[in-house]
Amino acid sequence: MSAPRGQWNSKIGFIMAAAGSAIGLGNIWRFPYVVGENGGGAFVFFYIIFVILIGLPYMFAELSLGRATQKNPVGAINKIRPKSFWRLAGFLGVITGVGILSFYAVIAGWTVAYIYKMFTGNVGDFSAFVADPGGEVFLFVLFVLITTLIVQKGVSEGIEKWSKILMPIFFILLLSLVVYSLTLDGASKGLEFYLKPDFSKITGRTLLAALGQAFFSLSLGMGTMITYGSYLSKNDNLITSSVSVAIFDTLIALFAGLIIFPALFAMGKDPAAGPALVFVILPEMFLEMPGGLIVGSLFFVLLSVAALTSTISLLEVPVSYMIDDHKVDRKKIVWGVAGFTLLLGIPSALSQGANDFFTNFGLIPASYTGPDFLSQMSFLFGDIALAVGAISLSIFVGWVWGVDRASDEIEQGAPFFRKTRWLWSFIIRYVIPVVILLVLLNTVHIF
Ligand code: PHE
Repeated sequence: MSAPRGQWNSKIGFIMAAAGSAIGLGNIWRFPYVVGENGGGAFVFFYIIFVILIGLPYMFAELSLGRATQKNPVGAINKIRPKSFWRLAGFLGVITGVGILSFYAVIAGWTVAYIYKMFTGNVGDFSAFVADPGGEVFLFVLFVLITTLIVQKGVSEGIEKWSKILMPIFFILLLSLVVYSLTLDGASKGLEFYLKPDFSKITGRTLLAALGQAFFSLSLGMGTMITYGSYLSKNDNLITSSVSVAIFDTLIALFAGLIIFPALFAMGKDPAAGPALVFVILPEMFLEMPGGLIVGSLFFVLLSVAALTSTISLLEVPVSYMIDDHKVDRKKIVWGVAGFTLLLGIPSALSQGANDFFTNFGLIPASYTGPDFLSQMSFLFGDIALAVGAISLSIFVGWVWGVDRASDEIEQGAPFFRKTRWLWSFIIRYVIPVVILLVLLNTVHIF
């Protein structure tokens, strides 16, 4: 007999772990800077529409596929269509997990360094900090190591236990910071930029950015939720779990904006500062706040933890694939995947000024993203691969596995779904693939 697969110990444990995967640097670091780069309110508007109309129904699809098959993304597809080319959609997810992890852990390393910087009050210059090769590589390796040690421990011991304690604390701290930021002089200008849509600023690139951000932030498009769904039991309610995760995740991103933009306009800075945005604005805000050094270091502690619950889920996808399909030992394979991630991530770690070649990599043209290796990876894996993954997986669930079987699976534990399954079926078969495809084609200037 093979060893039993992991399972969540409790319903709230699953919600916390899935929310832990979803909530991370995507909300606090990526969301504000893409809002800033894409002109503010109108972007936020489309982001919210995409979360509700595309992200949430799509999340049901991944979770139901995972729970029905009790497998990783490749294994799940293979169980339904053995040895078919559809497995490529699962492989794409496994590779995307490593791809995202390789640059995500670099940023996560920065947050760890900022715990110390805030604590001492000696923040220094951001661009000098990220251009130091030794420090960058050290922090990146450190973060990958911590992730690896936790994933080694498995589902309920490692992942669930920590998420349950730390995510609520993070929520409360963010809420207090929102209140503080809104009282700053000049906050209203920031609010206007952030919340008042100016639709003339919307382009094809903006729409892809909003869609990509919705998928990235909810951890969708690469099978994370297939994997996490596979640890669910049959009487769990997929709908209420997904809705809670999406609400938490979106609220936290919106809070991050409510903290950053008022503060940013109060300081008279440029919202389009790119990936550096949060690391420049927040420390400055903390330095001026009474008791700010303590609050600031606590903030970066919790942000590091939020990043950690996300890197754990990124690593868990390839690891669960190797365990299920190649029957390798969790303890061993975790290190193998981590080693590969380290190799792939070093160029990103060196791409913020430490090394000229990686800083001006520029393989993907500047009209899409920045020239540095990290931004290029973020665009390739964080936007494109997730979108392609989501198209393939929604077609697989909608047309190959079939909306009837998927709906039956969702209905177990959520009987009220019966009344709306027709609507969900329509969205998963037509709306999601078509909308994502249009946005993708539009981005590569097909029309
Ligand atoms: N959702 C995470 C965040 O917002 C990142 C992530 C993407 C995690 C895809 C897993 C899969 O930080």
